[in-house]
Amino acid sequence: MNILILGSGGREHSLAWAIKQNPKCDRLIVAPGNAGISAIAECADLDILNGGAVATFAEENAVDFVIVGPEAPLAAGVADRLRSAGLLVFGPSQEAAQLEASKSFTKAICDAAAAPTAAYAHFTDADAARAYIRAQGAPIVVKADGLAAGKGVIVAMSENEALAAIDDMFDGSFGEAGAEVVIEEFMDGEEASFFVLCDGETILPVGTAQDHKRAYDGDTGPNTGGMGAYSPAPVMTAETTQKALDEIIAPTMEEMRKRGTPFQGVLFCGLMIANGQPRLVEYNVRFGDPECQCLMMRLGGQILDLLQACAEGRLSEMRANWADDHALTIVMAANGYPGPYEKGTVINGLDSQPEDSFHMVFHAGTTKKDGHVTATGGRVLAVTARGNNLAEAHEKAYAMAHAIDWDGGFYRSDIGWRAL
Ligand code: AMP
Ligand code: GLY
Repeated sequence: MNILILGSGGREHSLAWAIKQNPKCDRLIVAPGNAGISAIAECADLDILNGGAVATFAEENAVDFVIVGPEAPLAAGVADRLRSAGLLVFGPSQEAAQLEASKSFTKAICDAAAAPTAAYAHFTDADAARAYIRAQGAPIVVKADGLAAGKGVIVAMSENEALAAIDDMFDGSFGEAGAEVVIEEFMDGEEASFFVLCDGETILPVGTAQDHKRAYDGDTGPNTGGMGAYSPAPVMTAETTQKALDEIIAPTMEEMRKRGTPFQGVLFCGLMIANGQPRLVEYNVRFGDPECQCLMMRLGGQILDLLQACAEGRLSEMRANWADDHALTIVMAANGYPGPYEKGTVINGLDSQPEDSFHMVFHAGTTKKDGHVTATGGRVLAVTARGNNLAEAHEKAYAMAHAIDWDGGFYRSDIGWRAL
């Protein structure tokens, strides 16, 4: 089978790494890829937001299966364009990708599906939004409606902070995404991410994880795309997991089906758990990054069979057998991230890292220049290890991170603290 993965992050490196282990995988191409991916797959310089260009490339290269990594091409309708060209594609339609691309769409679906989530109101007018905030008081959560690369959410602890967020969003500082806002009840509890595959009918859980969104130790500093993760998430007990499936995910998938826009792909459910009861924080329509790196280490090569069965509507035939152990990922980011960061710094010490099914340094923003791996992105490496328990995975991953010689980057020293 010839496989094309779209994306260039640590998530796509880990997908490529796991898929490559499946004997069904013949040719593996990743577009655009990165330095780490280029060591295990062909990299193709493609504009992955251009569905027509991707379809032409796939036809010219006899691609049998396309896996879409990030949300942007999904929200742009690339999966639809590829399917209409007759290609087998893993990833939702543009309409189903609204579950991530529009917060107000998701809130309306939750209403229809009676899925537990924060109470909310939706505004296109700044004065009405301000009046609502004054009436509700703080803490309160202000969200830009559209995709904002994880930066469109302000958890305001004071009324003034919430009002300032409204000023910002209607001032255009969030671009198009800020023209509409959702204002939500603040939910207290512990967050976890739950990943399920869905082929439009069958729902198949593929793992749980917890992320670290803040840049610095002790969950301080600005929000980022994620500075580390571990899997499984202890807060996702069997009972809480079943509640999330029965009360949130299954009714959502049913509602999507009823509307004639069934969801096919991976649904990433961001949950807030209090007293064992999960409530939905948000959906994403793709694997999390860096959560995916943990999941792929625990799932290995079977992921190709699962993703293919999902795309072919055969999930009811499948089981996911993940390793009964723990994985932990430490993200190494360029100094300055998530603000303006340095580019082009050289990373040494990667050659001496163990790389096997228990240890992997997944690459995100890297490129090869004059024979050296150099940093080109904000999040640059995702150092991942597995262990019999979380403490062991933690110890192994930190030993690897310490051995990487990179002056241009930093990482948190407390990934997994909550569960440890
Ligand atoms: P989102 O992009 O919707 O996931 O929001 C980003 C982060 O903001 C979440 O991971 C939560 O930590 C936080 N957050 C979002 N909505 C709420 C809420 N209603 N109550 C408390 N925290 C929230
Ligand atoms: N790590 C969070 C995300 O991928 O959205």
